[in-house]
Amino acid sequence: RIVYVNGEWLPESEAKVSVFDRGFLFADAVYEVTAVIGGKLIDYAGHAARLKRSLGELRIPSPTDPDSLLEIHREIVARNNLDEGLIYLQISRGPADRDFAFPKNPAPTIVLFTQAKAILANPKVETGISVITIPDLRWARRDIKTVQLLYPSIAKMEAMRRNADDAWLVEDGFITEASSANAHIVTTEGKLVTRSLSSAILHGITRASVLDLARSVGVTVEERAFTPEEAKNAAEAFITSASSFVMPVTRIDDGPVGDGLPGPVTQRLRAAYIEDRL
Ligand code: PDD
Repeated sequence: RIVYVNGEWLPESEAKVSVFDRGFLFADAVYEVTAVIGGKLIDYAGHAARLKRSLGELRIPSPTDPDSLLEIHREIVARNNLDEGLIYLQISRGPADRDFAFPKNPAPTIVLFTQAKAILANPKVETGISVITIPDLRWARRDIKTVQLLYPSIAKMEAMRRNADDAWLVEDGFITEASSANAHIVTTEGKLVTRSLSSAILHGITRASVLDLARSVGVTVEERAFTPEEAKNAAEAFITSASSFVMPVTRIDDGPVGDGLPGPVTQRLRAAYIEDRL
């Protein structure tokens, strides 16, 4: 692969970042993951806007302007002949002598790479995924998309250890979100219930798009917290993210959701999202 590092295009084996990089030493970095289908960027404007917000919240100066950033995204797709997959972008505060205080004159590090992945033909779309529920032990600013992904990684491993695909995280008795996606349910009355935006969850770009589409096709959307119990008794459940779009959740903690098959509202929203964005 050809990767982008601080203004240079390099084969991945030649790309280097300092051992003093604060992304490496302090997880002092933010990221975005943008889907690519047929060489086209999906929901790019949303990802660019959230990146700007994450950088602002952490006072990391942006190393690029919006036009160049879009150009870099387009160029990395072209240079890697990426048809379907993901673009990973990370911006850290950059290298500095190790100190908890931020450096006075930061030189942020920007890195982009691609990952080929079948998003549309994902076999899990047919069966849905299984999730476990476990405590949400992440920090309290989940609205900032930082690279502090150790707990989500542990949650994913715990899910796999228990023969499930992913984990839904629980705080104060309510689901926050999945390890790397937003969590949603559909009630037996056909209402879409999803946690409202706050610092408890990442403000998913796919979530926002799917909620808009849901409303436009006449699905009632209720933005409120829901419990694991309510999710287990729901008619349908699903997750949204750039890497999965809309993915049915058909098992929660070893029990089926509804009839245990991907539900009609979920399938309709997945189809609507794909049709709208392609
Ligand atoms: N994860 N919540 C969390 C904790 C996430 O990490 C993600 C995305 C989402 C969904 O956000 P969006 O719809 O903007 O992708 C929600 C990415 C895909 C990742 O870490 O790979």
